[in-house]
Amino acid sequence: MGDVHFSRGRARRGAVLVFFWILGLISLSCAARLSVEKQKLQVQKHLNRLNKPAVKTIESPDGDFIDCVHISHQPAFDHPYLKDHNIQMRPNYHPEGLFDVNKVSDEKPPIKQPKEHSAPIKQLWHMNGKCPEGTIPIRRTKEEDVLRASSVKRYGRKKHRAIPKPRSADPDLVNESGHQHAIAYVEGDKYYGAKATINVWEPRIQQPNEFSLSQLWILGGSFGEDLNSIEAGWQVSPDLYGDNNTRLFTYWTSDAYQATGCYNLLCSGFIQINSEIAMGASISPVSAYRNSQYDISILVWKDPKEGHWWMQFGNDYVLGYWPSFLFSYLADSASMIEWGGEVVNSEPDGHHTSTQMGSGHFPEEGFGKSSYFRNIQVVDESNNLKAPKGLGTFTEQSNCYDVQTGSNGDWGHYFYYGGPGKNPNCP
Ligand SMILES: *[C@@H]1O[C@H](CO)[C@@H](O)[C@H](O)[C@H]1NC(C)=O
Ligand SMILES: *[C@@H]1O[C@H](CO)[C@@H](O)[C@H](O)[C@H]1NC(C)=O
Repeated sequence: MGDVHFSRGRARRGAVLVFFWILGLISLSCAARLSVEKQKLQVQKHLNRLNKPAVKTIESPDGDFIDCVHISHQPAFDHPYLKDHNIQMRPNYHPEGLFDVNKVSDEKPPIKQPKEHSAPIKQLWHMNGKCPEGTIPIRRTKEEDVLRASSVKRYGRKKHRAIPKPRSADPDLVNESGHQHAIAYVEGDKYYGAKATINVWEPRIQQPNEFSLSQLWILGGSFGEDLNSIEAGWQVSPDLYGDNNTRLFTYWTSDAYQATGCYNLLCSGFIQINSEIAMGASISPVSAYRNSQYDISILVWKDPKEGHWWMQFGNDYVLGYWPSFLFSYLADSASMIEWGGEVVNSEPDGHHTSTQMGSGHFPEEGFGKSSYFRNIQVVDESNNLKAPKGLGTFTEQSNCYDVQTGSNGDWGHYFYYGGPGKNPNCP
């Protein structure tokens, strides 16, 4: 009897448990549905913040939508400090002595190289239209772009510690981050800008969460939590853009990639004035091995009057500026300039990815095969372009990705850089 009673009690308790278990399941699935709803709402809210009302939209052959947004409606003006900002439609000074920025052109004759194409590099979306005057082209962010990020907050941001630290006191840190670099750099002076002409390629990316880029860095402060950085160049990043296209990009941060800054116009900060170039849009054409070579020029300089950091793409396009209040150290000057390539290696345990840097070929191969930066220059105190003094190089593992500098009459200071990543000498 006692036994029966006991088991009946157990059965009742069992039924109660099952009841609560089912209740638990129902509420779990409700919670899950609620959190999916919440995430959707969050993504939608973020998209509404990022994508401003367009005067006109151009669909690019690569599937991008380029929104032509009235210049005063761009994301920069969401920033509380920019509410009453007077947009500057031209810089006060130009390091090449070109005050009429509407007709910016190189003083020097164009550099002729074997097999170098004279066709100007364009963005792919130009094939399908132009933005009207008074608007700026913005690559529209799609829902799936945001969903690929680890969180809404992380979308459009670099991960912490993405900066190369030449002669790092703690090499483990450099390795730990999984980022690999092959760069040239100068430090130990005050810099007011930098210029480079960068060979454009479409490196192969092994894993969708990896990227490959080629850029210049304008750095201020120490490599601590308050590092200031302005960056521009080209990148292939399936995570950020959802494809393998080579795209023009910019980045800025004033706290070592923590709370401030972003790629392109994905947060308020950069003020764009140009109606022809869209940040984050595909560059076309790109170079081919032993075939046509294409390159882009990027100049970033500090306006000595207002203190803003301006950016120019090619010889004709002054894109806009980062207001000086965004920065601490860079509000004065830069303490270091870097030029070169970076890839993310997602392979664990010291193994390497076959994600390519540059052309995917080592510097020894030279022109038409290896990727280059040429005519690299810094802007000095008197706002003049100068050859970099005491150019150093850095790479974590030269068997994976390497860098080699040189100089000559036409190319000034230049370097070849990059590599295939994983290979017999880089397991
Ligand atoms: C990007 O390239 C990788 C490797 O070459 C390939 O596996 C992947 O499908 C490509 N992604 C897209 C979106 O084309
Ligand atoms: C990174 O780690 C590899 C081995 O995994 C080592 O050979 C290399 O020297 C390290 N790089 C730096 C910069 O310490």
